[in-house]
Amino acid sequence: MSEAGTGARRTGEGRLPGDPTPRQMVERVIRVDHAGEYGAKRIYQGQLAVLRGTKWEKLIRHMQAQEQVHLDTFSGLIPKRRVRPTALLPVWHVAGFALGAATALLGHRAAMACTVAVEEAIDEHYQAQEAALGEDEAELRGHIRQFRAEELEHRDIGLEHEAEQAPAYRLLSAAIKAGCKVAIKVSERV
Ligand SMILES: [Fe+2]
Ligand SMILES: [Fe+2]
Repeated sequence: MSEAGTGARRTGEGRLPGDPTPRQMVERVIRVDHAGEYGAKRIYQGQLAVLRGTKWEKLIRHMQAQEQVHLDTFSGLIPKRRVRPTALLPVWHVAGFALGAATALLGHRAAMACTVAVEEAIDEHYQAQEAALGEDEAELRGHIRQFRAEELEHRDIGLEHEAEQAPAYRLLSAAIKAGCKVAIKVSERV
């Protein structure tokens, strides 16, 4: 975590022949983050569909509102930076909602465990992006840094609300994190 926030001096600095160009790196960052924030919003919508009217609603709405700001930021960057959005939005539309609703159906602890797993995966992902983007992309890196702090707040909310007491916590968490990593890999390119 230590050096992650500093960033390279220039985006793509130290890249090897065959590595993505700085332009390709920025495109991938915006494409995958737009996809991820879209998925995050859908996860919380899925959780709300099940937990609406319970004492968890307010907490979930708070996290969802922050995801909406994250999503709106990347939605604005797609045309501004002329990036092709992922072709997989319809997939994340369904998969995000299904993940949120399915875990919430297992109970609030599983819903919180889902949040913790997703946000831990996103934290790692955003850290790597912060380190790869340079001063020439200070604005984009600033957004990512701010959003990462909020994702960590979501993780902490999950941990404070008994995520680790969810049924089969380790298995659930490992499966969701593995899913996130696959989703990240494909959304960078597709
Ligand atoms: Fe987010
Ligand atoms: Fe989040």
